[in-house]
Amino acid sequence: MATPLSLFLLFLPFLAPSSIFSATFLVQDTEQVVQQVSESIRNATIARRNLGFFSCKTGNPIDDCWRCDPNWAKNRKRLADCAIGFGKRAIGGRNGRYYVVTDPSDSDPVNPRPGTLRHAVIQDRPLWIVFARDMVIKLKVELLMNSFKTIDGRGVNVHIAGGPCITIQYVTNIIIHGINIHDCKRGGNLYVRDSPRHYGWRTISDGDGVSIFGGSHIWVDHCSLSNCNDGLIDAIHGSTAITISNNYMTHHNKVMLLGHSDTYTQDKNMQITIAFNHFGEGLVQRMPRCRHGYFHVVNNDYTHWKMYAIDGSANPTINSQGNRFLAPDNKNSKEVTKHEDAPRRRWKNWNWRSSGDLMLNGAFFRQTGTTASSVYAKASSLSARPSSLVSSLTSGAGVLVCKKGRSC
Ligand SMILES: *[C@@H]1O[C@H](CO)[C@@H](O)[C@H](O)[C@H]1NC(C)=O
Repeated sequence: MATPLSLFLLFLPFLAPSSIFSATFLVQDTEQVVQQVSESIRNATIARRNLGFFSCKTGNPIDDCWRCDPNWAKNRKRLADCAIGFGKRAIGGRNGRYYVVTDPSDSDPVNPRPGTLRHAVIQDRPLWIVFARDMVIKLKVELLMNSFKTIDGRGVNVHIAGGPCITIQYVTNIIIHGINIHDCKRGGNLYVRDSPRHYGWRTISDGDGVSIFGGSHIWVDHCSLSNCNDGLIDAIHGSTAITISNNYMTHHNKVMLLGHSDTYTQDKNMQITIAFNHFGEGLVQRMPRCRHGYFHVVNNDYTHWKMYAIDGSANPTINSQGNRFLAPDNKNSKEVTKHEDAPRRRWKNWNWRSSGDLMLNGAFFRQTGTTASSVYAKASSLSARPSSLVSSLTSGAGVLVCKKGRSC
């Protein structure tokens, strides 16, 4: 007779394997992902060269995957196969139906009206969410998303602003594309529905633009984010497999916090790609702030920071490649990096590497860690595209203006 233990093992494969094994299969081979990113940028750049000056190819591998298609509005779901980096496998609502948001209101967060964004995002089935027209959505309380959703703002001008904004908590496979997210406020102390069968009490939120809490397979692309109460995009509490790309961030203090707390070691699995973003006017610090885990920061344009660009505590690995860092005139803010909350004897071992970064106006990146490690030698030999390409790679950062029937 089988013991209870072997019975458990016998039936294990028939239980939801994704929830049981998620922690193990989420962790990707960092070197391999970094290599794929470099290769896709290289491929896109070669394709651009071959097509000549007047083609729409930008050399940005995410954009070149869909923007040149004049029928992008008929082929919206192709976007789901265009991500690169650690969030590459986020499919959003690719395998579901379209949901058209027609109503910008959010009057009843427990029983959201059909046609509202809240009614769309709480559904159990995968959905590709689009908008019938331009709209400003001022939410009453955080938008608690359910898994397998894409919010696609292409072709219209959609703002989520003036109230609480987006929360991605304990769910997977979310794509957010082409949305203006700004002036996000704290809010809560209300009942909120997060799925067709469940609603609960929500305490007051931080007021982030996009808050990722225990989320995985997340891709935030071509959004414009500014002026929120806490972070523009924060990812904490065991979140991983995230790509943050092609965004335009402005007018904000603490831009991105990636990691829950220095003692929350589950975040050692955190893997995030930050690519082709423009960190612009009015930004102060944390682009990003990292705690544990692995961060690939590639081909971003840093044109404004008041204090520093990238900081970390708790021994994160930061691989900075092919970025452009333009330091402010203030002579005390030239350093791109800031090692925080630890004595020098500890942080001098954190693996923070810069390769192919362009340093302007006195900017400097304080590299630490094992310079001779084979991983880093290899990473710099493959390297990202030269930083001289950054301005063209990021020229479309933020929400794009797309017209149906024309390449975007
Ligand atoms: C780059 O192009 C080569 C040749 O076309 C192709 O085999 C490879 O899969 C491409 N790599 C990526 C990451 O897109």
